[in-house]
Amino acid sequence: MRVLGINGSPRIGGNTDILLDKVLEGARSKGAKTEKVVLNNLKFSPCQECENLRDDGSCIIEDDMQPLYRKIEEADRIILASPIFFGSLSAQTKMMIDRFQCVWRAKYILKKDIFKSKRKGGFISVEGSNRKDFFDNAKAIVKNLFATIGVDYEEELFCSGVDEKGDILKHPEVLKKAFALGEKIALG
Ligand SMILES: Cc1cc2nc3c(=O)[nH]c(=O)nc-3n(C[C@H](O)[C@H](O)[C@H](O)COP(=O)(O)O)c2cc1C
Repeated sequence: MRVLGINGSPRIGGNTDILLDKVLEGARSKGAKTEKVVLNNLKFSPCQECENLRDDGSCIIEDDMQPLYRKIEEADRIILASPIFFGSLSAQTKMMIDRFQCVWRAKYILKKDIFKSKRKGGFISVEGSNRKDFFDNAKAIVKNLFATIGVDYEEELFCSGVDEKGDILKHPEVLKKAFALGEKIALG
């Protein structure tokens, strides 16, 4: 069982990072092999709406998204983690998601499924305020991505009212839920 965690926060050791690490720790405790990718450490371009797209659904831009496409294809479970920035996903996360437009086109226009095998995934997020609608905004986009890449949206975990770096540590109950989420996704 390979569990891939994708962190869309620029803050290393921040709330999203800590929460994602807990999920991956839980997954490892059930024997899963885990990997974490920090989007902010990658060099990749936003989607360029290329007109000369390949019909196999692969992206023509040669940058750090290429190895990430492969990691996503090979993963059995995907945990996407993003803080709420301006009421939705972080720019890093949204930029990655837009790069799946090639897959969307292949799937829905050309009727070719690139990511054939069905996988499971989850979305975890944090915010400084207490706005459910912000998580709803972010969740709608993640669900759209997951549908495009053949990932069933199975798990979610959100934590409001965490703003300073490490504030999430004041919420042991949420960290416990994150660990349990990791265990569940690794077994299910
Ligand atoms: C650019 C930016 C935009 C933000 N926008 C929001 C927002 O719209 N709503 C909110 O509740 N918190 C917002 N926040 C606060 C973050 O969601 C909060 O600090 C979170 O804990 C950051 O997670 P991290 O430590 O994983 O980066 C924003 C923070 C930044 C840096």
